[in-house]
Amino acid sequence: MFDDLTAPEADKILRLMAMFAADGRVDKVDLGVGVYRDPAGHTPIMAAVRRAEAAIAAEQVTKSYVGLSGDPAFCSALRDLILGDVVAPERVALCATPGGTGAVRQALELARHVSPDAAVWMPTPTWPNHPSMVGHLGQTANSYRYYDEATGGLDREGMLADLAQAKAGDVVLLHACCHNPTGADLRMEDWRTVGDVLDATGAVPFIDMAYLGFAEGLTEDATGTRHLAARLPEVLIAASCSKNFGLYRERVGLCLAVTSGPGPRAAVAGTMAHLNRQTFAFPPDHGARVVQTILGDAELRQMWEAELTGMRETMNANRAALADALRAETGSDRFGFLGAHRGMFSLIGADPAQVDRLREDHGIYVVGDGRMNVAGLTPDTIPRVARAIADVMG
Ligand code: LMR
Repeated sequence: MFDDLTAPEADKILRLMAMFAADGRVDKVDLGVGVYRDPAGHTPIMAAVRRAEAAIAAEQVTKSYVGLSGDPAFCSALRDLILGDVVAPERVALCATPGGTGAVRQALELARHVSPDAAVWMPTPTWPNHPSMVGHLGQTANSYRYYDEATGGLDREGMLADLAQAKAGDVVLLHACCHNPTGADLRMEDWRTVGDVLDATGAVPFIDMAYLGFAEGLTEDATGTRHLAARLPEVLIAASCSKNFGLYRERVGLCLAVTSGPGPRAAVAGTMAHLNRQTFAFPPDHGARVVQTILGDAELRQMWEAELTGMRETMNANRAALADALRAETGSDRFGFLGAHRGMFSLIGADPAQVDRLREDHGIYVVGDGRMNVAGLTPDTIPRVARAIADVMG
């Protein structure tokens, strides 16, 4: 059975993780995979998470199964964080998933189950696992223009022209905030225009929300998603708690489907539970319980929100400091867009040979397409990284 098997190639993010781990240089700098580091270079367990875990350990009396769609209290707490009160809960089907990737996968499974022939439209560029999963599921993958390298901002005209080609029932993937890999986000007026285009075409938005709270704030980062949820009859959302709760390895995610009313909601919720059963049965509970504990306790929630604000401010300070250092190194504002972007990632505009030189000559790891994780920078590494970028791209 396995004698002629060749393993599929890992994606560029995972390949880089392996190369970094194998590099023996002590001063190597990891700006690859999307993991937050504090100014001392650590990826800490958040204090609110530690407190919630201690409370769970003290109070939990069983590890028996919870439910195919996870704990309803977790699902509704995260739904409220994401959607606020813009949609009646009776319209929203929910299922907990293993991480945000699990939520993306279950949302795509749901779309395929309902409309096997629908195309999935993805921005160019996007997170490499999006097209990979769409291809794995045998769905039709279409791309729409999104990023304008020349300006470091959106290609608005291209995006809208391409999205107008979507057919009724097609799925249009959007990044809620902190676009991965570009760092260039839709503004509120863009969300409105995209909502109008989707309404006219009948295509269904599918919002990947992996970085809620990393751009401007918890409410601000959800406004585009909330607009579409209020504006359109159907919306799919995949949410992750990996980054904003620092729960990466615990795999905490939620798949949400906004439907037209209680009847379709019940059918979608039952289908989601069925799809969970076919894939992994019960989603993991520990991290979801941590999130539910934090969101349901006023003191822990305040503590978590303050820590999240601290992470966001660190990332934005890293952006500003790197843009300044590059201004000084290059004598130009060519990298000024780094300060305007939001979230963990930006494309620095390096070609593959320049990315190789950053790694080989300077021990600085960015993904092959030039994606840099600015959350991996520290005050110590920023001057070195700026010098290296100026050296290889100057
Ligand atoms: C990333 O894009 O680096 C993260 O979302 C981690 C991952 O799973 O790829």
